[in-house]
Amino acid sequence: MSVTETPAPPPAGEPDPGGDNGDAAQAHLRDRISADSLTTRRDYLRIVATVSGGLAVGGIGVAAGILHRHGDSETAPQAKKVTERLAPGESVAFRFPGDEDRALAVRLQDGTLVGYSAVCTHLACAVLWREDRGSEGELYCPCHEGVFDARTGEVTAGPPPRPLPRIFLTEEADGSVWAVATARSGEQGRDALCRQFGDSRPEMAAQLGCPGADGAIESRRT
Ligand code: FES
Repeated sequence: MSVTETPAPPPAGEPDPGGDNGDAAQAHLRDRISADSLTTRRDYLRIVATVSGGLAVGGIGVAAGILHRHGDSETAPQAKKVTERLAPGESVAFRFPGDEDRALAVRLQDGTLVGYSAVCTHLACAVLWREDRGSEGELYCPCHEGVFDARTGEVTAGPPPRPLPRIFLTEEADGSVWAVATARSGEQGRDALCRQFGDSRPEMAAQLGCPGADGAIESRRT
C-alpha cells in the first residue's frame, strides 16, 4: 500500500462510503483496517509526519461556537473515498467527515498529498486551491484575500485568525485517495489520532504511543 496516512475503520453499523464504484476499494480498505498487523509502524509515523507541524491555536468564530468546525469527533469518522486519482498540481473538493463539511485534497508538485477543511477560518467562505499563486500554489480565500500555506495550512496573509484544520488522507496502491480522520485547527497530528482512534482502534493508538492505549488493549483481552 502506498500510504501517506493510514486508513481509519468505518464505525460498526454505518453504511459503506464511496458509492457503488467504491465498493471494491472500500472492501479492500476494510480488510486492511481490520488487520492491524498489516499496517506498519512506519505507516503510522507517516501519519504523524504529515499532520504535525506546529499549527497555531486560535479562532474567534469557532471558539464562540459560531462556525461548525472539523475534527470535533472523539471517534474516527467513516473513511471516505475522495477520488480515484490525484495528479501533481491538482485538487479535488469533497465533503468530510459530514455531508456539510467542505474539504479539499491537493497534490503538490513534489507528490505530497495534503487535505484541509475548505471552510475559511475567518468568516467561513470557501477556500480554493490556486496552483498559480506562490512558489508551489496556495490555498486562497477570495472573500478577504485570506491565504493559507498549502503544505501546512498556516495563515500566510489576510485576516484568517488560525490555520485550516487538517484532514488525514491515505493513498491506496490503486491510486485512490481516501479521507480517514481530521484534526482540529491547531491540534497536533498525533493528538488528533489518539483522540479519534484511542477507543475504536487501540492497536493503532498503541503504535502511535497514545496514552492509555496499552491499557485499552489489555482490557479488551480480559
Ligand atoms: Fe476568508 Fe474572510 S472569509 S478571508
